[in-house]
Amino acid sequence: MSDTDIPHLDFTTPQPYPTWARMRSECPVMHNDGSDWDSRVTYSISTFSDAEKVMRDWETFSSSVNAEVIGQYMGDLILAMNGPEHRQYRNLVAHAFRASALDRWDTDVVVPLIHQLIDKFQADGKADLVAQVTSKYPVQVICAIVGVPLEDFEQFHQWAEEINTGPFDHERGMAASRNMRAYLEPIVEARRTDPRDDLITDLVTAEVDGEKLTDEKIYGFLRLLLPAGAETTFRTMGNALTALLERPDELARVTADRSLVPEVIEETLRWETSVPMISRISAKDAEVGGVTIPSGCPVSVLVGAADRDETRFDDGEEWKLGRPTQTHLAFGTGPHQCLGMHLARLELRTGLNVILDRLPNMRLDPSQPAPVIEGYAFRGPTAIPVLFDV
Ligand code: HEM
Repeated sequence: MSDTDIPHLDFTTPQPYPTWARMRSECPVMHNDGSDWDSRVTYSISTFSDAEKVMRDWETFSSSVNAEVIGQYMGDLILAMNGPEHRQYRNLVAHAFRASALDRWDTDVVVPLIHQLIDKFQADGKADLVAQVTSKYPVQVICAIVGVPLEDFEQFHQWAEEINTGPFDHERGMAASRNMRAYLEPIVEARRTDPRDDLITDLVTAEVDGEKLTDEKIYGFLRLLLPAGAETTFRTMGNALTALLERPDELARVTADRSLVPEVIEETLRWETSVPMISRISAKDAEVGGVTIPSGCPVSVLVGAADRDETRFDDGEEWKLGRPTQTHLAFGTGPHQCLGMHLARLELRTGLNVILDRLPNMRLDPSQPAPVIEGYAFRGPTAIPVLFDV
């Protein structure tokens, strides 16, 4: 194969799936020479079985690479820890995501918030579901759960975005990181003496084997949680709504039979996750899919590509209901599997059900451009203009 025939990784393309499909068939473990981003040789993994193998083998494929880039803006980062340190830290924070907490959040937080957002435009007969619902709803949920005042959610959303885009604008990313900590400090201190029913209280009081979280770990976790909770679920919800609105027959079927909503969510996560790529670094020489990866190479696990692998999912490029039940990798797998996945599923389930209940005969607005799911590191539509009956 000549160089020009090799699929080319373009991190700026809004539509990477065609290249990822070629990678799966032509070079499933792709070697990339140093780029503007990284002078090191890197590897990209695109099939389901290889992606699963890399994510589960934390001793060979370390998460420490996450400290290099996003760790600068977030501080002590669970996503960058490995082995016993990660396990102990995860046990401390996982308590806050237990199933019993989720039930309470659904009735006290999630349901009221989605209704309040829809109340604001239901009488209009039209809306942009991104601007008016999806971009606001998960960030409000995470603020309420963490225990910061809801009226500050827009400020939090801005910090979350600036921290996430820190690699493109270092000063802005660092300023957002400092400002978020300065804002959170008095709240964290107050919870130490006056515990409440919120996640900050859970974090300051959590104890495993007599060990408590250090301040650096508390702020590191809170700085991750806002972007992790706000930037991901919001886009996945937009992707699910786009899938349904583009298929009016399926939208009608799901509206009439809500037992299909969980399947809509899982199929959307498989087909168009909002986080299609995660990072590792080889801690020793390794072999994946017959390719030797030397120690010290960054490895991109393309979970979006893996979840369309035709050897596991027939017509993997298509969104369709009625597939045989198969796990997907949208929440990762292995020790770092998404801590917020139950909350994300809950927000998606409640959010989609309430939208279907309250916006009857919802359809794409023919006078506006149709939604387009786009992006490389984060994927979602920028607008979903709809009409509905009032
Ligand atoms: C649809 C929404 C979401 C998607 C697609 C998603 C995806 C992911 C993925 C792929 C990972 C694994 C990263 C890795 O292995 O390096 C992860 C980890 C994580 N996610 Fe999510 N996530 C979502 C929602 C959330 C929410 C709502 C929260 C919290 C409120 C959250 C908190 C976390 C945390 C704390 C980790 C790190 C776990 C660890 O390192 O042990 N996520 N997520």
